[in-house]
Amino acid sequence: MPPSPARPRPAATVPAAAVDLVDRPAPESWLARWLTACADLEELFAHHQLLDAVIQEVAGRRIRVDGRWLIDFASCNYLGLDLDPEVLAAIPGYLQRWGTHPSWSRMLGSPALYPQIEEHLTGLLGAEDALLLPTLTHIHAAVIPVLADQGTIFVDGRAHKTIWDGCVVARAHGASLVRFPHGDPAALEVLLRRHPKGPRLVCMAHGFGVLGQRSRQESCPYGVRGNGVVRHLGETYDHIVLTAGFSKAYSSLLAFIAGPSALKRLLKVAAPPYLYSEPSPIASLAGALVGLQINDRRGDELRAVLYARTRRVLDHLDKLGAITLNTSGFPIVEVPLADPEQLPRAGRFLLDHGIYATLAFYPGVPRREVGFRLQLTAATTDQQVTEPLAVLDQLADTIPLRPRHP
Ligand SMILES: Cc1ncc(COP(=O)(O)O)c(C=O)c1O
Repeated sequence: MPPSPARPRPAATVPAAAVDLVDRPAPESWLARWLTACADLEELFAHHQLLDAVIQEVAGRRIRVDGRWLIDFASCNYLGLDLDPEVLAAIPGYLQRWGTHPSWSRMLGSPALYPQIEEHLTGLLGAEDALLLPTLTHIHAAVIPVLADQGTIFVDGRAHKTIWDGCVVARAHGASLVRFPHGDPAALEVLLRRHPKGPRLVCMAHGFGVLGQRSRQESCPYGVRGNGVVRHLGETYDHIVLTAGFSKAYSSLLAFIAGPSALKRLLKVAAPPYLYSEPSPIASLAGALVGLQINDRRGDELRAVLYARTRRVLDHLDKLGAITLNTSGFPIVEVPLADPEQLPRAGRFLLDHGIYATLAFYPGVPRREVGFRLQLTAATTDQQVTEPLAVLDQLADTIPLRPRHP
């Protein structure tokens, strides 16, 4: 299939000097080095509509891109709360009461929604306290250096980039950084013994809203109540600080750190985003609060739907003999290709067949994991799952998926 033409650059909005710089960087320049490092992604951006797309319209879990309706398998709104009628009906009332945006930093003042969410969250998680900040990026940058002080940070080799960035700030403040291989507690144990200098902080990432405590009544292996990974594993918050975002399962630009009240008091005076950053918009605060109330009443139903949708995709891949990195049953189904070079072609195939997926490109993932991801949500209909399964069959006939047994 011929490559689609590169998208035109918005020349009118870019100063002429900048265009020169971008089009003809000297080979030894800093810009050329950056472009070389990001060449795979730059290539995909230039030729692929599954990246950097402009989405013109949304109808349920369908989106319109360049005049074409596609099923959205890139959404991370796992509980479907972005489209939930109860959330949509509630938000305008909050906007009437509070305006669109509280433009105080939290140090100056917090709309009452903040303590209401923090209290609800604390009860749900079973943690001593919780502090809300706008994003996880803010939290990682601000909180990791405070917790690490001049001690040692042990970072999961596959930790999110924003965790690494927070660690680099901590290193600039005197902490040491040690990387441990993802999913290898024995290797971490060895490193912990080798680096006794405290405080010692182990950093890894997890989501929020899907996993919850295990129960005999659970309708799916995610557990119940969506009260987080700490409760799912039957752990307590002794020596654990949980950071997570509302921006996926709860469809709101908001994140939290849960742990001891003493830590919250400290962060209020030591964490720059509490002191200096703007807060989350009211629609996000309201969405999170109403979302938590919905979670109490019917979150487990939403998670059961989510699991059933995910299971269908996983079972289908199994029948196809294709490998997926998804061994957990979480709603992110990674599908690696047999040949990573085929990624642009596979992406175009999905697009041409009405599927909007997430591309897993190098260097975002190791080359052996290059492929695409289908993300499921509780708002993805059963019919919308049927369609990509048929497309997967056709795709596998033309562009081989990585086989389960090579
Ligand atoms: C593990 C993890 N950390 C951090 C982030 C960034 O979150 P935010 O947009 O709240 O800064 C994400 C979002 O994808 C994430 O999945």
